[in-house]
Amino acid sequence: MSETIGTERLLLRPWRVDDSAEAASLFRYASDPEIGPHCGWRPHTSVTGSMRDIRDILAVENNWAITFRSGVVGSEQSDSAAGDAAPGTTSLSNAASDKAAPGEPVGSIALKPVGEHIVGAVHADPELASRYGSLLGDDAMELGYWIGRPFWNRGYVTEALRATLAHAFDTLGKTAVWGGHYVENPQSGRVMAKCGMTFAFRTKGTCFPLIDERHDCDFRIITAVQWRTSTR
Ligand SMILES: CC(C)(COP(=O)(O)OP(=O)(O)OC[C@H]1O[C@@H](n2cnc3c(N)ncnc32)[C@H](O)[C@@H]1OP(=O)(O)O)[C@@H](O)C(=O)NCCC(=O)NCCS
Repeated sequence: MSETIGTERLLLRPWRVDDSAEAASLFRYASDPEIGPHCGWRPHTSVTGSMRDIRDILAVENNWAITFRSGVVGSEQSDSAAGDAAPGTTSLSNAASDKAAPGEPVGSIALKPVGEHIVGAVHADPELASRYGSLLGDDAMELGYWIGRPFWNRGYVTEALRATLAHAFDTLGKTAVWGGHYVENPQSGRVMAKCGMTFAFRTKGTCFPLIDERHDCDFRIITAVQWRTSTR
């Protein structure tokens, strides 16, 4: 199982299986229709389904639950009136709250093998193939991330992504990390750009079978050399 990664405000930790508080928190944020469809999956419809997704999809190597350290803005312990809340005890009726208990999962960030939508697009274009063809194998990875809507635009995913890229390059020894987002989801591109990921190419009508939709997508990349230069 992956190691926990600490940042200034966050702890990125492995997902906990068969844990009802963990599943309830995932459901609270992943049932929002503004989350999953931007990542290519359907909104969660039940806590039981969220529990199953943790076991079958999320609890794997290099997939982290995004949680708050106690005392940060998104954490209930920064608010003295709510300071005694235990992890996982926030009720579902607090779905619109911008507070979460420390340690409670409010999002996810993952490194996965580079997907066919990237590999296929690069191989289909000789210019892309000559530029990126050597950056698609086991030495490269692809990102995925999301965070609950109450926590958007506070720099949390940028902070999580910087730490995840450091892990990919400095701990796992990867040579490149890819990321992609719908053209109509520029905030995701902005997160990647802030972390030094540069535009590589745009695809037309990429198919997302789990939601039965097609989207034009922008793909970005950062290599280990670029990462080391940008953090030197
Ligand atoms: C995309 C997402 C992960 C961003 O997370 P976040 O924690 O809010 O990101 P950050 O706060 O670190 O950065 C967001 C940046 O986007 C900018 N932004 C917000 N809305 C924007 C918009 N409509 N157009 C352009 N930029 C936008 C913010 O101003 C900020 O940039 P800045 O720091 O230069 O001001 C989050 O919105 C999310 O989970 N969305 C739903 C799921 C999703 O889209 N996942 C990614 C799939 S590729």
